[in-house]
Amino acid sequence: MISFNQKTKVFTLSTKNTTYAFGILGDKLLTHIYWGKKLKNEINENWADDFVWRSHSAFDYGDYSTNYIPLEYPQYGGGDSRICAFSARFSDGSRVTKADFKSFEILDAKPDIEGLPSVYAENGDNVQTLVVTLHDDLKNLDILLYYSVFEDFDAITRSVKIINSGEKMQIRSVLSASVDFFGAGESDIIHLDGSWARERFVTRQKIEGGNISVESGTGVSSSYYNPFIAVCDRTTTELSGNAYGFGFVYSGNFVAGCEKNTYDTVRAYMGINPREFEWVLENGQSFSSPEVILAYSPEGLSGMSRIFHKIIRERVCKGKFRDIERYALINNWEATYFDISEEKIVNIAKTAKKIGIDTMVLDDGWFGNRVDDKTGLGDWVENPEILPNGIDGLCKKINDLGMNFGLWFEPEMVSPNSNLYKLHPDWIIHTKGRMPSKIRHQYTLDLSRKDVCDYVENAVGAILKKANIGYVKWDMNRSMSEVGSAFQVSERQGEVMHRYMLGLYSILKNLNAKFPNVLFEACASGGARFDCGILQFMPQVWTSDDTDAVERVKIQYGTSFIYPYASMGCHVSACPNHQLGRTTPFDMRCNVAIPGQFGFELDLNNCTEDELKTAKKAVEDYRRLGEVFHKGDLYRISSPFDCDVSVNEFVSEDKNTVLVCIYPKTSTVASKDEYLKLAGLDETAVYECNGKLYGGDYLMNKGIHYINDREYKSVILEFKKK
Ligand code: GLA
Repeated sequence: MISFNQKTKVFTLSTKNTTYAFGILGDKLLTHIYWGKKLKNEINENWADDFVWRSHSAFDYGDYSTNYIPLEYPQYGGGDSRICAFSARFSDGSRVTKADFKSFEILDAKPDIEGLPSVYAENGDNVQTLVVTLHDDLKNLDILLYYSVFEDFDAITRSVKIINSGEKMQIRSVLSASVDFFGAGESDIIHLDGSWARERFVTRQKIEGGNISVESGTGVSSSYYNPFIAVCDRTTTELSGNAYGFGFVYSGNFVAGCEKNTYDTVRAYMGINPREFEWVLENGQSFSSPEVILAYSPEGLSGMSRIFHKIIRERVCKGKFRDIERYALINNWEATYFDISEEKIVNIAKTAKKIGIDTMVLDDGWFGNRVDDKTGLGDWVENPEILPNGIDGLCKKINDLGMNFGLWFEPEMVSPNSNLYKLHPDWIIHTKGRMPSKIRHQYTLDLSRKDVCDYVENAVGAILKKANIGYVKWDMNRSMSEVGSAFQVSERQGEVMHRYMLGLYSILKNLNAKFPNVLFEACASGGARFDCGILQFMPQVWTSDDTDAVERVKIQYGTSFIYPYASMGCHVSACPNHQLGRTTPFDMRCNVAIPGQFGFELDLNNCTEDELKTAKKAVEDYRRLGEVFHKGDLYRISSPFDCDVSVNEFVSEDKNTVLVCIYPKTSTVASKDEYLKLAGLDETAVYECNGKLYGGDYLMNKGIHYINDREYKSVILEFKKK
């Protein structure tokens, strides 16, 4: 698992199929050596020879230039001119640190990170943690590098802790991971970008000289970019080749990217975005960074995704809902928008119950004076005109139908037109003397303040205590701007965005603990906060406000690069689609939503008999097949971005059930014969589908015969091992 070779001075971190190694150069400098396929032999003792500088100007480390060698945790000022992971400012104005190797320890455990979500271990997991301490003599500063090896999950997590035993200082940048790929050759970076209703489209770019980075400065992980990148060989495909993934366990501002230097070394990095961050450390104080999950696979991009899927499902998500079958729900948002009444909600629920739906979710508009999106946020008390019997009265009616009741909140926000804002105008994120911009007519509450966090926790808690609520949709519909806090002192204004995250995480942790039977689903104008941090508290996320089936195929495809289908809220909505105006067949809308956390976002009372039949069958299919979709292995066979037909294949762990989802984007009359080659099957087995028998090896080498000749002819094929 984790070993240190005294002679070669090499740390070796091994998982089931991978090795990650770094050494100590000249007893001082942590130098990255290897990350990739598991090595059977130890790293040889001359490992540093490759890194001897070929030209002039060796710096402080003998024959090695810090500007050239692969560094394990680059700091500002040591002669390395690439992007550094750590930089600080001291009271004398200096910014240089030189923290060299001091000591290490290996723990048979996975420590928590105070105040932050992180990957956790369970009894019986093969987990070890290496803690390497780097020390700066002049400034009396320690940098602790944490590496936790989740052997059976093939994943390694990294985080950093800064301990200041010297004078007061300010952290300017503290990235959580930096990995130098020495001599990277022809390689690509993959990231997920988009906007509202177009989240996580896949971008694959050549890594050429210079820096490519994605980031968020909006206070949420954002829909513009996601806190995920992959680095891969130019030749890597979905099913083969080296793929190195980085996933951030954090929901706030981040930066992630790759810098390629002139000698072809690629530095990949990820952490809190330094652009929006400063942190003061007094003597005796420490700061812990969020964690990065590193996932390497030699089996292509789908292989990398499978590593993320498993560890996110099993060791990021927490609580009762982690392992159990979740709800099949109906949400009234697209059915009614703000035009709600108790009667309407009960009527939607009654029809939903008939087709097997188990949860009715009441969306926005039930509280305060919230008649539209300009008012009421912050006043978490029922509006008696809409709910004459209160939340508890409506909840009881839904429960009496034999269904769970779910409720929408947007607790981190306040409308200018609300009682809360009138009482506490200084509770919003703002800069002294200036009013912040309104986004969706609202302000962000200042969760860097304990009193505001207490209000939010109590306001939500009071409603959850009052009625038998089984599900909460926790929304967040604006980004932060003009960031500052009336509470923090001037030198700590740069800490507000991270302190906000600490406040939010503490609220969510407390609510999870107080209400273990409530399933929380995250939402941020759709999927603008889909990340491994939020998933620790809310095991599913509303993937996008775009419910058009064709667009959803792309959004869900991109999302699956890191996040499992078990974490994606996916609903069937009415047509013409409210966001795009497109009409797709009802069965396609069902087939696209079934692999996720399934539900409806329409009034079933307006559906035809045929549609209701299809809807009922979809609920049954979801329940029957959910286990394979949510816990099986995903192979992305063809991409909706590159191909006319997108194919996702899910294989159960025992390889007995194989589900193949086929979604055409465009079709052609008299289209050509195609074979869709499957992957990951038992090649010696025979599989049955629709009464026909196929060899596993045939399906992988020849494929399924497919003709794409009818617009939107989607299908979910079920193969069973004989
Ligand atoms: C956001 C969400 C939607 C809906 C509305 C309600 O846009 O993404 O699903 O809840 O808010 O205002």
